[in-house]
Amino acid sequence: MEHSNRSMQPVPILCLSVLLFVATQQQFAIADAKIILRTFHVGNLTISRLCQSTVITAVNGKLPGPTIDVHEGDTLLVHVINESPYDLTIHWHGIFQKLSAWADGPNMITQCPIQSGGSYVYRFNVMGQEGTLWWHAHVSYLRATLHGPLIIRPREAYPFPKPDKEVTIILGEWWKDNVVDVDTQALLTGGVPNISDAFTINGKPGDQYECSKDMYRLTVYSGKTYLLRIINAALDHQLFFKVAGHSFTVVAIDATYTNPYTTDVIVTAPGQTVDALMVADASPSLYYMSARAYASSKGAYNNSTATAILQYNYNTSLSSSSQPLAPKASMPVMPAATDTDTAHRFYTGPTSLVRPGNPTAVPLEVSTRMFVAFGLGLATCQPQQLLCNQTRGALAASMNNVSFQFPTGISLLEAHYKGANGVYTTDFPNKPAVLYDFTSNKIGMAPFTEKATKVKRLRYNETVELVLQNTAILGTESHPIHLHGFNFFVLAQDFGNYEESKARAMYNLVDPQVRNTVAVPAGGWAVIRFVANNPGVWIMHCHLDMHLPMGLATVFEVEDGPTADAILPPPPSDFPIC
Ligand code: C2O
Repeated sequence: MEHSNRSMQPVPILCLSVLLFVATQQQFAIADAKIILRTFHVGNLTISRLCQSTVITAVNGKLPGPTIDVHEGDTLLVHVINESPYDLTIHWHGIFQKLSAWADGPNMITQCPIQSGGSYVYRFNVMGQEGTLWWHAHVSYLRATLHGPLIIRPREAYPFPKPDKEVTIILGEWWKDNVVDVDTQALLTGGVPNISDAFTINGKPGDQYECSKDMYRLTVYSGKTYLLRIINAALDHQLFFKVAGHSFTVVAIDATYTNPYTTDVIVTAPGQTVDALMVADASPSLYYMSARAYASSKGAYNNSTATAILQYNYNTSLSSSSQPLAPKASMPVMPAATDTDTAHRFYTGPTSLVRPGNPTAVPLEVSTRMFVAFGLGLATCQPQQLLCNQTRGALAASMNNVSFQFPTGISLLEAHYKGANGVYTTDFPNKPAVLYDFTSNKIGMAPFTEKATKVKRLRYNETVELVLQNTAILGTESHPIHLHGFNFFVLAQDFGNYEESKARAMYNLVDPQVRNTVAVPAGGWAVIRFVANNPGVWIMHCHLDMHLPMGLATVFEVEDGPTADAILPPPPSDFPIC
């Protein structure tokens, strides 16, 4: 289905921009690094799932989209040609984008969208990180069908035994309806979007849904070791993942290596990835892989289960379509959807692998401390929310009582670069105006939250420590907080209200997890630390897609540094305009 003939098309302006880009990036040159060019044709794809044919937006006619496979140190140029009816952007989730903020991708933060009929070349180096990341649309609900793996291989060997085979497991979420309509409807009413109809494993829901024939199958050979690269590309659900009869050794999370961590259940929040070794050591037979929600809030959720089949090579004949689906495959016993203990154990279990020369030692001096209380709330209906109940107000979400408002007309990064006035202010508060019992279940409602485009300005190379405190306003929930442009250390996390002395006693300053997305415990907190060593504007937001337009976000504006290698270059010549 891939338009392989078209992806070979020469791209007129590309050659010149490659040269320019390479010329401006000389300081990063690595002897055997490659320049990798990929073309993404984004357009309509008619696809059938759950016995219904639907038109989706897809890259190169594929769901999940194409895998990008690079080596650490390579330069990637992805020419996105937007042949879809929607204006859109693509984000390279977890990529540092060192000095290439123009390629980060969040809509109206680092760029105006690529208009329908337009194109843009995302140009960036993949430096200082390896493992499993992914790419996805960063506008409306298009991430549901516009996503794919971005795998960064090490230049040397893995710090774990070499697997016999690598397999990507991308967990997704499927709506029968057009996902942009689902999102628009929620915006108009100021409510929550309709719940998805299914979860998927590698784009397929499996056989547990009414009228579902599409199921992913993985054939394994007895005694071989498989590296599963598991990506949570769902929009609004954290997910449990298990394979009946098998267990895992986690070796990386969010493209950072961990000490080996054994478990029979994997938990991921949207945005997160887990690399896990799995040995095919069960008796040769059929086994289900299952993914289902970890639902941390009392709100409605999708209670269904996506399945796929793991079949030993011995059984390959059973995959022919004339055979019944998985006649007697064993099913894993999944945790209950509300099993916070299991989720928390996994989320806090792995520690990072400290290697000689590992550049990721925890910085011990902190220059900026922030306390960010965040969660749901209500705001005055916006003029464009035509179906919003004025008395109730619109569902909103906020950080330190500021509900982030996306700019229109110019992206924040462009406004920052040009010094444009009136687009944003730099008064995002370092702490909430009032301290209260954040996680009390008696909170209930709160006063309307303010809608504004406020950023936190940071000097180049500052070390920032953030307390991320979930609130119980409108109920507790675990929000996966994702920071663009940086990895961060997760020093501690727990339930209840953050208390400084108790938290400090818990700090892991030796081998804390290094992540780009942390699922802050429901009614709890996490402390993260990062070094602002990348000039640009970087959004930090909840990776539950329904909470982003509600404003569960803020932005760090990182100033240029003192030396030439710490200055944000100008935007590329094909940079999309609004
Ligand atoms: Cu994976 Cu701002 O997103």
